[in-house]
Amino acid sequence: MAKQREGRQKLKKGSFKKALRLYKYIKPYRAEFALGLLFLILSSAANLAFPKYLGDLVDAANTDDIVANIENIALILLVILVAQAIVSFFRVVLFVNVTEKTLASLRQATYQHLIKLPMPFFNAKRVGELNSRISADISLLQETFTTTLAEFIRQLIIIFGGIAILLYTSPQLTLFMLAIVPVVVLIAVFFGRFIRKYSKDVQNEVAQSNTIVEETLQGIFNVKAFANEFLEIARYRTKTNSVAKIAMKGGKYRGAFSSFIILGLFGAIVAVIWRGVNLIAAGDLAIGELFSFVIYSGFIGGSIGGFANVYANIQKAIGATEELMEILEEEEENLSETESHQNLPDFKGDIQFKNLSFHYPTRPDQKVIDALNLEIKSGTQVALVGPSGAGKSTLVSLLLQFYKPQSGTLLFDGKPAQDYPLSLLRNQMAVVPQDVFLFGGTIRENMAYGKPDATDEELKEAAQKANAWEFIEKFPEGLDTLVGERGVQLSGGQRQRVAIARAVLKDPAILILDEATSALDSESERLVQEALDRLMVGRTSVVIAHRLATVRNADEIVVLENGKLREKGTHQELMADENGLYHSLSSLQFNS
Ligand SMILES: Nc1ncnc2c1ncn2[C@@H]1O[C@H](COP(=O)(O)OP(=O)(O)OP(=O)(O)O)[C@@H](O)[C@H]1O
Ligand SMILES: [Mg+2]
Repeated sequence: MAKQREGRQKLKKGSFKKALRLYKYIKPYRAEFALGLLFLILSSAANLAFPKYLGDLVDAANTDDIVANIENIALILLVILVAQAIVSFFRVVLFVNVTEKTLASLRQATYQHLIKLPMPFFNAKRVGELNSRISADISLLQETFTTTLAEFIRQLIIIFGGIAILLYTSPQLTLFMLAIVPVVVLIAVFFGRFIRKYSKDVQNEVAQSNTIVEETLQGIFNVKAFANEFLEIARYRTKTNSVAKIAMKGGKYRGAFSSFIILGLFGAIVAVIWRGVNLIAAGDLAIGELFSFVIYSGFIGGSIGGFANVYANIQKAIGATEELMEILEEEEENLSETESHQNLPDFKGDIQFKNLSFHYPTRPDQKVIDALNLEIKSGTQVALVGPSGAGKSTLVSLLLQFYKPQSGTLLFDGKPAQDYPLSLLRNQMAVVPQDVFLFGGTIRENMAYGKPDATDEELKEAAQKANAWEFIEKFPEGLDTLVGERGVQLSGGQRQRVAIARAVLKDPAILILDEATSALDSESERLVQEALDRLMVGRTSVVIAHRLATVRNADEIVVLENGKLREKGTHQELMADENGLYHSLSSLQFNS
């Protein structure tokens, strides 16, 4: 038990330390932040002076020169109000400025970091979760900086400053008040929370009973077919009865709460006033002082009540920051902007896998590539075939350096892959992936992804080479046709041809096609295959295909099974081995 508590405390300390790293992003604006803080303290202090002068105002009614005194005090009050108004304005503006600038740089830093993280990171995390880091967590920080922090400081000043002023006015009455008000307020806060949680439970129960209705009506066919009407009636009856029971119990708590507020809160006020009037009678307190005393007590009570919420918010913000900082601590890929769209002039596109073994980091005991030795000579066309799950797409990921092999080496032009700058090496390859992903913009934007500075002429030429121009031309908006989210407004075959055009534009030394014609009917397949054949001339091509007819002309066909190289050779050579895997795959397809 003690150990557990220790652990939790430690965690909190650590979280707080991590949250402090946020300071790096505030630092450039720290002067503005400090000024805002000063204004905040000033305006809170002015707030605190207010009840004091209100009390003086009341007391002035008892003096001889009422009018002159009242005017003086009213003037002071007016000055305080105006000063507070001005200071508050600048406080809000400064805090918003600092917050927005900080959050913008934090958002940028997070996104910049996130997009540079290596592939295994994205395998382990869900997109929705990462997205909420950037949106929800950072919005939480926004609220914390603009509102919660100010509240926190204001409440601290009001609680401690207020108590100090009260002690100065009348220590006796202050102690009396402190014995009652904070206790009542805290009980009210926690009682209120308890009730809120309770009504949530009721809502959950109601939701469950609604589910019964919804499901049984949707599945009425099954209910009736299995003659289960009476069973469902009983189930619904039990559920709704239990809802009523819980809700009624909650009603009792709610009733108790309102009794408590009447008795506790108003009782506390009456008690303080009663005690105060006694002190007035004894000549220890002025009426105005009691007046301001009651207002201060209200302020203090309100601040104590609000403190619980502020504290909860700050805790949430620290948690959010901690998770954000954890992402920012992950190691990035070594990418550089200057190399991201450059060509390597003498790059030939020789590929060699040397005794390479690989398993995905998330599944350490499943060897996906097993001691693979394979050489792909520059300018040749090599087909990778084999059963589903053999590791073909994994080889593509390895070529693109998405993952590091656990052993063995991958060489490009005889040089280990890791000796090349990462962005530069990736830029020498183009992939038409197994499932084409298009961004939500226009066809033009999607094609230009392969070459951001492509001219209209180049775009058109690439589209023609990919056999995509014929359908692009038919759209009224041509290249500026919107493709819809993820490209849903294009057919599968059209999407694939846009992806091919993108690869054409990139004009890479190494072309990788992973099932590039899988989504096509025979006619479009013929069109796309034609485009691909044209595209493959003069460059190293790695072609993955299930339909073996499409790779019959490859310079070499490599048959993979369970991550191992089973056979390789030309179509004729492989067909000659009647017991071979290729032969059996091929005859299966031919027969069907
Ligand atoms: N991101 C991943 N994390 C863990 N395991 C993976 C991952 N991707 C693929 N695998 C596993 O690796 C093995 C090889 O998958 P791969 O996608 O390379 O097969 P493939 O030969 O391309 O199959 P297909 O012809 O069906 O596309 C499979 O067993 C698969 O379950
Ligand atoms: Mg695959």
